[in-house]
Amino acid sequence: MKNIKGLAMILASTSLTGIALAHDRQFDPVDLEAAVPEAQQILDEMEDDEKTILTWGLAMFPNMNSLFDESGKIEEPPEGAQWGAGFIRGIDRFSVPPLAETDGPLGVAYVRGIRGDYATAFPASVLLGATFNPQLAYESGQAMGAETRALGFGVLLAGGANLTRDPRNGRTFEYIAEDPLLTGLMVGGQVAGIQSQNVISTVKHFALNGQETGRNFVDVIIDDASARESDLLAFQIALEEGQPGAVMCAYNLVNGAKACGNDYLLNQVLKQDWQYPGFVMSDWGAVNSVDFAWSGLDQQSGAQIDPDVFLDETLFEAAAGNEARLARIDDMNRRVLTSIIATGLMDNPVARTMEIDYEANGLLSLEQARQGIVLLKNTNGALPLSANAQHIAVIGGHADFGVLSGGGSSQVHGEGGPALVIRHDPTGFGEAVSEQYHRSSPLEAIRSRVPETFVNYRDGRFITDAVMQAEKADVAIVFATQWMSEGFDQPDLSLPSGQDALIAAVAAANPNTIVVLETGGPVDMPWLDDVAAVLQAWYPGDHGGKAIAEILFGDVNPSGHLPLTFPKTVEQLPRPHIPGSDFIEPGFLARYEGSLSIDYGIEGSDIGYRWFARNEEEALFPFGFGMSYTDFSMANFSVFETGEGHYGAEFDIANSGERAGADVAQVYLVSVNGETKRRLVGFDRAELEVGESKSVTINFDPRILAEWTGENWEIAAGIYTFALSTDAETDVETATVSLPAQILTQTGEPTN
Ligand code: GLC
Repeated sequence: MKNIKGLAMILASTSLTGIALAHDRQFDPVDLEAAVPEAQQILDEMEDDEKTILTWGLAMFPNMNSLFDESGKIEEPPEGAQWGAGFIRGIDRFSVPPLAETDGPLGVAYVRGIRGDYATAFPASVLLGATFNPQLAYESGQAMGAETRALGFGVLLAGGANLTRDPRNGRTFEYIAEDPLLTGLMVGGQVAGIQSQNVISTVKHFALNGQETGRNFVDVIIDDASARESDLLAFQIALEEGQPGAVMCAYNLVNGAKACGNDYLLNQVLKQDWQYPGFVMSDWGAVNSVDFAWSGLDQQSGAQIDPDVFLDETLFEAAAGNEARLARIDDMNRRVLTSIIATGLMDNPVARTMEIDYEANGLLSLEQARQGIVLLKNTNGALPLSANAQHIAVIGGHADFGVLSGGGSSQVHGEGGPALVIRHDPTGFGEAVSEQYHRSSPLEAIRSRVPETFVNYRDGRFITDAVMQAEKADVAIVFATQWMSEGFDQPDLSLPSGQDALIAAVAAANPNTIVVLETGGPVDMPWLDDVAAVLQAWYPGDHGGKAIAEILFGDVNPSGHLPLTFPKTVEQLPRPHIPGSDFIEPGFLARYEGSLSIDYGIEGSDIGYRWFARNEEEALFPFGFGMSYTDFSMANFSVFETGEGHYGAEFDIANSGERAGADVAQVYLVSVNGETKRRLVGFDRAELEVGESKSVTINFDPRILAEWTGENWEIAAGIYTFALSTDAETDVETATVSLPAQILTQTGEPTN
C-alpha cells in the first residue's frame, strides 16, 4: 500500500441533525410505485384474452423477418411495428399503447440503416463510467430518451449494469465499471434521464452475465452474500436511483437455473426483498418454458427466437385451476401497465417525428468524451502538445477514417453511417457484429487544430514505413485499437494485429511518442516504459476524434479516472482464462449445454481493485487512476455520523496547479477491526479553477460498510478506517471511527 499521510482519529461524534440521503442525486426519477393503483384499475377491467397481449413480444431485427413465417405462430410484423429490437402490441380498449423497443445503451441502435434514420452515437459506457459523473449520465440519458421517441420507440434497452468481473468480457465496453456503487449511480442517472422523456428504460442483464462465451449455457456459481454485495448491489442502487420500468433478465444460468426463470433472482431478490414494482422482460432468445412466468418473468421478448411463444395463451392453459398462477398472470400485466403509466407512455403515446436536435446531442456526446478520456502517462512534458510543433506523424488506428466503436446490439450509426466497416464474423450475428468506426477522424481534428503544422499519416501496416515517418517528426502519435463486441470474449488483453510491435518500433525511432488507445477495456502495454505519454480514449463516440485532439493540445484538461483496474498481467486476474474460451465455436455460439460453469466464488464480491487489495497485488494502473494537466491537493479528511446510523466524510480539495481542471476524489473503506478491506464508499468529481478549493461532503451508502448475512445487511461493531484517495492504491489521508453494530433495511436504513 502506498504512503499514508497523517492519521485523523475521530471517534463517532454525537449524531448531526437530519438523515442524509445515501446518494446525493440532482435529479428525480419517475415513481413506479405511485402508478400501481392506476394499473390495477385497468387490470380489474381486463378480460382473459387481453391478459396475454403485454406478456410477449416480437423480435424486430431486419435479418429475422424470415422468422415471421418459420415460427408458424407469427405471420408478419403487426401494424405499427418498425425495425429495431422488439415490439409488444397494445390494448386498444384501454388505450394502452404498443411498446416499440430499440437497443441502447449508447444511443438508439442502428438496424443496418434500413429505417433510413440515424442517431447520436454516444461514447462507450465504460468511458461514461470514467467520468464519475452521474449528472452527465442523466443528461446524456435525456438526449438518448428524446431520440428514442423521435425515432418512434417507447422502450430503450439501456442501463447495462453488469460488473466487469473479467475485462476480457466482450461487452466490457457496454458496462460502466467493476464497482457496484459507481455502476449503480451512473446507470441510475442514465435511466432517470432516459425515462424523463416518457420512455421506458431497462437495466440489464440481470444478473451475473459476466461473459459472452457460452452465454446461453454458462452456469454462474455464486453464494448469496457474494452476489448481494457485488453484482446485485449494482442493480439495487441503479433501481433506487433510476426506477427503470423494466429489468432485462440475462441468458446465463445462476446456480443451476436460467436467469429468466430464476426464482431466487426474480422473485426472492428483485420482487420480494427489493419490492420492485416494474416488470421483468427476457433477453432475446432467453426463454424456454412457460414455467419462467411462475419464477418471475413478466414478458417474453423476441418470441420468434425462442423454441416457442410461451407467455401467450399458453399461460392460461398452464394456470388452469391454479389460483396462484392466475394471480401471477394478473401480476405480470399489472407490472407492465405500471411501467407504461409511470413513465408517461400511457398519456404520451410515441409518434415518429424525426425531430432531433443532433447538434445539442452531439455536444453532449463530445462533453462525455472530454470527461471520460483518461490520461495514463505524461512524461517530459510530452502533453499537451505545443501548437508550434512543426511535424507530427500520426500512425495507425484508422485515425484517418474515425474512431472505433463496439460491436453488437448496442451499435449506433451516426449520420452517413460508419466511416469504415471491417467485417469479422465469429458469431454468425452477421454485419451487426463488425468493426465500425464513427465519422470523427482524429487525424482531421489534429490537422484542423494546427493548420500550420505538417501532419502526415501512415496506417501502420508496415513498421518500417511508420518508423521512417516517426524518425523525421517532432512527435509521433500512434493510435492503437482493440475491437470488442457482444457475442464473443477477448482471448487475452493484448493489442491485436501486431500493434505492440508497431508502437515499440515507433518509440525506438522517436522518444517523443504518444499512444492513444481506443479499446473497450484494459490492455497490456509492453512498450509503456518506452513511450512519453498514453491517453486512454476507449470508444469515444461520434465526436471522439475532436475530443482526442482537444486533449492532445490542451484545449481540454483530461479528467477521466479508470472505472476498471488495468492489470500488469492476466495472471493477476481470478482465473487465467474465461471458461469455455478454448471451445471450438467462439462466443455465444458455444453450444455446450450443461458443461460450462464458472465459479465466481473464487473472488466472491472482491471484484477488480478489491481482488487486487485482497491479494496485495499492484495494478499497472489502478481503479480510480487518472492524470491531469494541473495539480490537485486534498486535506482535512474526517469521517463522522451524519444522521442516525448514517455516516459520511468531509475534506477539502484544491487546484494547486496552473490551469483549471477537474479531479475525482475517492473515499474507500480500507479496514474493519484491523482486517484489510477496500471498498469505494463515495466519490466526488470537483471542477476547480486555478487556486480554487472547496469543501466536499460525501454521504456513505451504509450497505457498503455492511455484510449480507443471508437475511439482512449487518454492520459489525468495531473500528472502521477510511481513506481519502486519488485511486484504489494511493491513500492521501485516513480517518478512523468506531461504529456500533447495526442491522439495515434492504435500502440501507438502520433498523435498530
Ligand atoms: C441481445 C442483447 C441485449 C439486447 C437484446 C436485443 O442479445 O443481449 O442486450 O438488448 O438482445 O437486441
